[in-house]
Amino acid sequence: MSLRLVKPEPRHVAEWRRWRTDPDSRRFMYLPAGGLDEWAAKLAEAKSDLADKTGELYRWIAEVDGQPVGSLSLSYVDWIQRFCEVGYVIAPEMRRKGHGRPMVAAGLDLGFASGLERIMAFICTDNDASVRLVEGLGFRREGLLRRHAIIEGERRDHYLYAILKEEWLSGA
Ligand SMILES: CC(C)(COP(=O)(O)OP(=O)(O)OC[C@H]1O[C@@H](n2cnc3c(N)ncnc32)[C@H](O)[C@@H]1OP(=O)(O)O)[C@@H](O)C(=O)NCCC(=O)NCCS
Repeated sequence: MSLRLVKPEPRHVAEWRRWRTDPDSRRFMYLPAGGLDEWAAKLAEAKSDLADKTGELYRWIAEVDGQPVGSLSLSYVDWIQRFCEVGYVIAPEMRRKGHGRPMVAAGLDLGFASGLERIMAFICTDNDASVRLVEGLGFRREGLLRRHAIIEGERRDHYLYAILKEEWLSGA
């Protein structure tokens, strides 16, 4: 099983939207409104090449044996402060099969290789899957962000997790 991150293409739009609109994703992630056209535009506006340091949002599709299984983003990228937020979703039918963690790991490899030094994750306090995923990669819980973000109309508490470049490279 080999996972690779590829640049999103128009053929990924419907799948990506399906993954993001499933009930568990909606429980834990802000869902932008709009039909397929808006989602296509959103997918097209993100960059994928981190050598291009003019962007704030980078996105990839994860493929396993050529099949799309999830999507990964580095967002709110600040190239001066060299930090960003990581976001991720796995196709509902592909969850709990060990794809999420290697997908995020591949994103950390890319992000830290590109010059970023701190990568954060904001996770709803009841999102057990996401907490386990990042803790297994060495992210540290740095705090509780009370009523941090609005999801499905409700302000939700989030944990702030982060991993530093030196921690990732040393496997600490
Ligand atoms: C979070 C998510 C990406 C995890 O993807 P995944 O492919 O299932 O993750 P993995 O199979 O690599 O599992 C990672 C760890 O989480 C655990 N896990 C997965 N789903 C779980 C669940 N529903 N409850 C508790 N633990 C869970 C796995 O057992 C594994 O733990 P371990 O290896 O330390 O024992 C996936 O559940 C998802 O897309 N959720 C909806 C979107 C979302 O919440 N995104 C994150 C927003 S912060």
